[in-house]
Amino acid sequence: MTTRYRVEYALKTHRRDQLIEWIKGLLAVPFVLHSHPTAVFEPDGESVDLQASVSQRRYAEIMRDVEEIINDHIAHQKVGKPDRSKLKLLVPTVGNFFTSLALHDAFIWQDQRRFISYRRFVPPSFNDIRLVLNTAQVMSLVRSGPLELITFDGDVTLYDDGNNLTPDNPVIAKILHLMRRGSKIGIVTAAGYTEAKRYYERLFGLLNALQTSNLPLESKQNLIIMGGESSYCFKFDGNSPDMLRLVPREDWLLKEMLLWTDSDIKELLDIAEASLKDTLRSMRMEGIIVRKERAVGIIPKEGHKFCRETLEETVLIVQKILDISEVGQRLPFCAFNGGNDVFVDIGDKSWGVLACQRIFGGIEGGKTLHVGDQFLSAGANDFKARLACTTAWIANPLETCQLLDEIAELDEMQQRKTR
Ligand code: IMP
Ligand code: MG
Repeated sequence: MTTRYRVEYALKTHRRDQLIEWIKGLLAVPFVLHSHPTAVFEPDGESVDLQASVSQRRYAEIMRDVEEIINDHIAHQKVGKPDRSKLKLLVPTVGNFFTSLALHDAFIWQDQRRFISYRRFVPPSFNDIRLVLNTAQVMSLVRSGPLELITFDGDVTLYDDGNNLTPDNPVIAKILHLMRRGSKIGIVTAAGYTEAKRYYERLFGLLNALQTSNLPLESKQNLIIMGGESSYCFKFDGNSPDMLRLVPREDWLLKEMLLWTDSDIKELLDIAEASLKDTLRSMRMEGIIVRKERAVGIIPKEGHKFCRETLEETVLIVQKILDISEVGQRLPFCAFNGGNDVFVDIGDKSWGVLACQRIFGGIEGGKTLHVGDQFLSAGANDFKARLACTTAWIANPLETCQLLDEIAELDEMQQRKTR
């Protein structure tokens, strides 16, 4: 059993988030000690509310402790020694934090909505903890001053995979509300097109709503699209036919990005294309190779669906091959599983978010939130955004709406406090 477990673990680390798994393990202890599954046979036993309040107190205490361990990690980060923190020993893959996390308060907030402490048979889950982390992140951001920039992934975050942002999408009103409150918005998507028209086709619901809204002209300029991870930048422009104006690269490229030469880009995409072709053949995939100026991918033939395992296998192979190539050490790239396609893009979302921060005048990572659905360590493209800013990991577009409602509610509470 042990061996089997270890093999599974070794092969699946890219499918786990170690911080979440660690917190899940900590919360399993009070669950085992304080939940009363047998209460269902004992109608005269302790009241449900009483048991839940004991459990809630224990869970919340643990979240407070985790909050402090993260603060200690941040203190180590500040003196340039994050590797020496206790958290790093406990969760070796943990990265840097841009803000502290209000985990205690966030747990109470989510518990009031998900009734985690009331559960007797189902312990705190991966999703419970993911949502508590999101709430903790937005609480800390709202409490520490205005949230200056919010960047969104496209597919699965704003609309269902492969769909478009249509006028009936409830997220539109919520994004306009954020803009009215002064936040800047970036849509940082892998979808890589050179013309504004293609982005208009995908995002027309939001672009039309912004055009007809009563937002001041200046605020309307606060929406940008960063496509192909970090390759194509468009700004909202009500006078352009597609409501978007291409911003020339020389106006926004970061100085490190100037080192990405055309010959390196070609070399990396050639290696990636050869690997994708190989896998396409060996796995008998019903797909075609798409080569673009700054990306290469496999998309399915009309009507075909790839299974998850095949998609993951394809990504992990191309990732490994590029990792060990010379050009792969020089040039940032992002190989990911897009749900029913696999793409290798030049650049990644950390560069996309950094460019948005720069375009809006140098916004800090601790004042920026990236919302996305792909945060596993391999084969996922939002993961890299963690290098540039705080993040929220959502599972579907409905969760994005709920997160934006949470931000609005917390913001309202904060306003009342400071009034
Ligand atoms: P995202 O979730 O907004 O980052 O979009 C990812 C999806 O965009 C992929 O799964 C593809 O279906 C689509 N896509 C279109 N063009 C490109 C490209 O050039 N690179 C990567 N993905 C692309
Ligand atoms: Mg996505």
